[in-house]
Amino acid sequence: MEKVLTLHHDTPELWKLDNYRSKGGYDGLEKALKEMEPDQIIGMVRDAGLRGRGGAGFPSGVKWGFLPKDDRPRYLICNADESEPGTFKDRVLLEQDPHHIIEGIVITCFAVKASLAFVYMRGEFFLGAQRMQAAIDEAYEAGYLGKNILGTGLDVDILVHRGAGAYICGEETGLIESLEGKRAYPRIKPPFPANIGAFGMPTVVNNAETLANVPHIILKGQEWFNSIGPERNRGTRMFCVSGKVQKPGVYELPLGVPLRDIIFDYAGGLHEGRTLKAVIPGGGSARILTADEAMQVDSDFDSLQRAGSMGGSGGIMVLDDTVCIVQSTYIIAEFFHDESCGQCSPCREGTGWVEKILHRVEYGEGRPGDIDLMLRMGENIFGRTICPLGDASVWPTESAINKFRDEFEYHIREKSCLPGTESIL
Ligand SMILES: Cc1cc2nc3c(=O)[nH]c(=O)nc-3n(C[C@H](O)[C@H](O)[C@H](O)COP(=O)(O)O)c2cc1C
Ligand code: SF4
Repeated sequence: MEKVLTLHHDTPELWKLDNYRSKGGYDGLEKALKEMEPDQIIGMVRDAGLRGRGGAGFPSGVKWGFLPKDDRPRYLICNADESEPGTFKDRVLLEQDPHHIIEGIVITCFAVKASLAFVYMRGEFFLGAQRMQAAIDEAYEAGYLGKNILGTGLDVDILVHRGAGAYICGEETGLIESLEGKRAYPRIKPPFPANIGAFGMPTVVNNAETLANVPHIILKGQEWFNSIGPERNRGTRMFCVSGKVQKPGVYELPLGVPLRDIIFDYAGGLHEGRTLKAVIPGGGSARILTADEAMQVDSDFDSLQRAGSMGGSGGIMVLDDTVCIVQSTYIIAEFFHDESCGQCSPCREGTGWVEKILHRVEYGEGRPGDIDLMLRMGENIFGRTICPLGDASVWPTESAINKFRDEFEYHIREKSCLPGTESIL
């Protein structure tokens, strides 16, 4: 299968405009602006079936169609905050291929009638920020940005906004608050950003990888996109494979490729002598899968959802038989407690309590009843918070307990990790 988004990533200095152009870069923009109408583009992306790569997998063309038909200014935000544990593909795009994202942004601005776009970027992405700003400068110089783009009368500006390293700034309404100069407290929805978003105006928020797909759909058409991946799960995904594999990295593959192939063929399989214990298939928020479940499931959004987990951000974390499940669950719980913005009591307090209990279980001070106590706490967080971080904090612990309860019980009983598992802390 030919790659789409990363096809030219071996090209030296692809981040420079001339090199991007030499690989057909900005041809999609030219076609969109000179041969298509905005509604036609929205219809094409909707019929292609492009689903968001940021986490929820929401259909992009449908999202764009939610914008009100009024003449208020509207904005596009490219979400490049990329803070989900186990996820590092937007970083690759930003560093290797920033014009690709810019091209997707300008076409999308044309489609949704926005003349200002923001790239909200994770603060730690120093190289990505430099490369993106340099690419924006080149694009202005060459007439792909600014006033009267390619002589078509379209005006689009892009501003890069760098975050300061908070996970919650990736949640679209937290991001918008942060962009407005405030603390990134997620907003209650509705109203949705499509109606009242940044600076009170209609706003589309899309992930960087989602936007990078747009020029290809314009150039090659919806039928071509529909030929990749299973129904309702079209296109490729930049899967980020990490953990106990021989070749961790980003692998662009059609959605739906079996998880087994991603881990054992593309990522080189496990280290010698090891066996697979579990897989977290969609970033740190996703429910954990046992080895058996992981070996039977495909990598697309719907298959992973049917298996009780989710495709999320495309971060596949592989755990072998040396990994202590209690410890890995504790690490994730610590992350969520750290990153809770503190607005809602169930999330602010609950994530802290769960972290505390997991800590004592892991370090030999667990008490009888702790396992059920954590499950009950999860029930009291789930569905009772403003943003999905609350729910996301519950899934890893709840699924690890349901699938590896013996290991939690062993810790409480024996006051140590299972023999053969090692501490990484
Ligand atoms: C806690 C939290 C963190 C998130 N972090 C990111 C992120 O870093 N990048 C991202 O694209 N989406 C992130 N999302 C999802 C966004 O809210 C939003 O759904 C997404 O940017 C929409 O783009 P898409 O439709 O192209 O996927 C996060 C969601 C939550 C709840
Ligand atoms: S769920 Fe957590 S992160 Fe989200 S708004 Fe509430 S306290 Fe903040």
